[in-house]
Amino acid sequence: MKHFMSKSISGFSKLSKSKKIDWIVDTYFSNSEAAKRVLKQYWNTDEKIQQLHDEFIENTISNYYLPLGVAPNFSINGKLYTIPMVIEESSVVAAASKAAKFWLDRGGFKTTVLSTTKIGQVHFIYHGDPNRLESFFKQIKPKLIADTKAITKNMVSRGGGIMDIALRNKTQDIPGYYQLHASFETLDAMGANFINSCLEQFAKTFKKEALLFDSFLEEEKNIQIVMSILSNYVPECLVRAEVSCKVEDLKDGNISGEAFAQKFVQAVNIAEIEPYRAVTHNKGIMNGIDAVVLATGNDFRAIEACVHAYASRKGKYSSLTHAKIEDGIFTFWIEIPLALGTVGGLTGLHPLVKLALELLHHPSAKELMQVVAVAGLAQNFAALRSLTTTGIQQGHMKMHLMNILNQFEANEEEKTSLTKHFENHTVSHSAVVEALKALRAKK
Ligand code: HMG
Repeated sequence: MKHFMSKSISGFSKLSKSKKIDWIVDTYFSNSEAAKRVLKQYWNTDEKIQQLHDEFIENTISNYYLPLGVAPNFSINGKLYTIPMVIEESSVVAAASKAAKFWLDRGGFKTTVLSTTKIGQVHFIYHGDPNRLESFFKQIKPKLIADTKAITKNMVSRGGGIMDIALRNKTQDIPGYYQLHASFETLDAMGANFINSCLEQFAKTFKKEALLFDSFLEEEKNIQIVMSILSNYVPECLVRAEVSCKVEDLKDGNISGEAFAQKFVQAVNIAEIEPYRAVTHNKGIMNGIDAVVLATGNDFRAIEACVHAYASRKGKYSSLTHAKIEDGIFTFWIEIPLALGTVGGLTGLHPLVKLALELLHHPSAKELMQVVAVAGLAQNFAALRSLTTTGIQQGHMKMHLMNILNQFEANEEEKTSLTKHFENHTVSHSAVVEALKALRAKK
């Protein structure tokens, strides 16, 4: 047995991939050959594809697979979609598919993009007279925009670019703290690189011109730039998705449409006022949203950070979806900020991302916002429908059955036999283990 010492290493990043692996397996694994085998098992046999993946990030040693599933039958504004979803959790894709099928017969999903503005800020410190800073900003604003021309040229020719820049005084929160708060239209790009490049140019121009501004006192001229960075909070990049139908059309098995609708609305109302419930409710929504965001090569961390800030915008964490019954009509909707791209980043690089975008009919960023919002709404509908009728475990465990069987290395024959058995029995971890034991004992 090897004795492991925590070791640091200098120059690791400069080693070749195989030397990195050697160091890792020799330092951390009791069976270094076995560890190496697992890492290599996940390499792509196509060297070019493997190299592409190696170069997405740094210090790559292998690939980490997540399943890519598809949910068919989504009618969005009358157009049919099959939605690609990348997720590790069982029952999410099934739930989305079931919700899609349910609404296909009831008018489908209706969506609208409400706004597409993105935000970036230059944070700086200035300890002088605020009025003189204001006059400087007014004078310099056209130059801030003009100096970014080389960066914005192509975006402007496509109809996007810098929308506005405002000076914001934040000195009540931190002495001397101000911002250049800029808004952007980045069209089909998520826009992070574009926005950050513009902001860094604003900062350069701002600092340089301040030194030349005659009205500043000498000590006011040295503006200190703290940082220039986009904001992932985009409450003005909003999309709405909704479903609606007559209450009686919600009838499901022996539950009346009226009873279903009322319980469903109550469940949403609870998530609107109770943060403990809202977090789980929104987690269910993010099951759908993250899965499509990942499949289409977008930044799920940015989406997550923004969505939860948005869910707290009124000072208390709350539901992202809403529901009502009015004049015999049930309406269920989501309004959500989503800064997505269908060009740039991974979208043109990752073969499966390209495939996912083709599956979605090569959407614009606006179209993708609508698809993603629908995936979130559908997921929430399926979860709430289960929660307020059968309970979540029935369907979730039915889908989880295969994972439990795999955990116990069930063979094909055992899987077939137990899948049949659990068509009429409730799935639970212990029930599956017992049934598998009983089956094996028979042999
Ligand atoms: P079911 O009625 O037993 O399914 O539902 P079914 O076998 O009668 O099939 C009906 C349709 O469901 C199928 O139509 C598919 O669309 C879909 P078909 O394709 O046959 O024409 N479907 C499937 N699609 C792909 N693969 C499958 C599959 N099975 C059904 N194997 C189902 C079963 C799981 C769909 C249902 O019980 C359900 O929607 N449950 C909700 C599950 C869920 O929300 N899972 C998310 C994870 S739980 C969680 O993390 C979030 C949560 O905490 C959030 C919250 O609290 O709000 C719940």
